Amino acid sequence: MNPNVLEIKNLRVSFFTDEGETRAVNDVCFEIPRGKFLALVGESGCGKSVTSYSILRLIQHPGKITGGQILLHNEDGSTVDIASLSEKDDKLYEIRGDKISMIFQEPMTALSPVHTVGNQLCEVLYLHRKISKQEAEKQVISMLGRVGIPAPERRFRQYPFELSGGMRQRVVIAMAMLSRPQLLIADEPTTALDVTIQAQVLALMKSLQEETGNSVLLITHDLAVVAQVADLVAVMYLGRIVEQGNVVDIIKDPLHPYTFGLLRSLPGMSKNKDRLPSIPGSVPSLLDIPPGCPFHPRCDFAQKGLCDCGEPPPETDMGNGRMICCYRAAGIRQLLEEKRRMEDA
Ligand SMILES: Nc1ncnc2c1ncn2[C@@H]1O[C@H](COP(=O)(O)OP(=O)(O)OP(=O)(O)O)[C@@H](O)[C@H]1O
Ligand SMILES: [Mg+2]
Repeated sequence: MNPNVLEIKNLRVSFFTDEGETRAVNDVCFEIPRGKFLALVGESGCGKSVTSYSILRLIQHPGKITGGQILLHNEDGSTVDIASLSEKDDKLYEIRGDKISMIFQEPMTALSPVHTVGNQLCEVLYLHRKISKQEAEKQVISMLGRVGIPAPERRFRQYPFELSGGMRQRVVIAMAMLSRPQLLIADEPTTALDVTIQAQVLALMKSLQEETGNSVLLITHDLAVVAQVADLVAVMYLGRIVEQGNVVDIIKDPLHPYTFGLLRSLPGMSKNKDRLPSIPGSVPSLLDIPPGCPFHPRCDFAQKGLCDCGEPPPETDMGNGRMICCYRAAGIRQLLEEKRRMEDA
């Protein structure tokens, strides 16, 4: 069996609007190993959702996958390139909700207001398996219990509006887990919830993942969340992955100047208590991506003639599974160390 459940290779997605072609996802490559939790992080608008929607082929007009592969490696040894399937291919229906499930940001979009929680969840089982009504009810009630819903037999008969936001998101997680997917994609699953509930829901996703051995792709802009649950991290900027690696290494020792800036702007990450360092400037428009390294206009280490012209920087292997896309990769550790010392002084 392939050690990766999913491999994304040189994925490109564009939106063709009146203003021109918006390259939302540009040459993105990453892998999700079986049984691992990968977090995709980056500022608003960098292409996280578009990447995840592409995996289930949910990109709609005027958006289009313009290149690359999305390889799903099944447990039976077969491989499907999701990017190349036609919209009407039966394989897409098998993949959606069965092999890959998705949890969206707002739980109410996934739940019908006019059906009971129990009926909606049983429906998932009827869709994917031949199963009796009694057996479906038993499995749904057990799953509701596993996602931490008290008195699951009573909740089974209730409507979504009778539940709190945190409980509804647990129902959505139960729904996504019922078909026992190989891969669970969660796009900002906790942003609509209170901070204390957020931590509980993430801990739940982590423990279900450890218990069932499925893989998770978590989309978030919150690096504090990433540190709690992820095994691996991919950092996106302007439609590209700029750094990838193990979560512990990246949080302790970020190597791309963008990741470094993101982490330093978190409270508690810098020794200077009076002023939090921030990344200068703002994210440029995707219609006007800077030449060379797309991050160069905001980067303290950008070198004229190297970083500001030509193609975006290629991947550099930094050892121990770490990759960055930076023209200054060779000397970056020393440059960041000096910056850290200056900021902390
Ligand atoms: N329907 C659409 N039509 C035109 N452009 C779109 C559309 N959806 C997304 N885009 C473009 O794709 C870019 C990436 O969007 P995406 O939703 O992936 O960002 P994101 O990283 O998920 O941000 P957020 O953290 O705010 O959710 C956007 O900046 C926008 O330019
Ligand atoms: Mg998004």
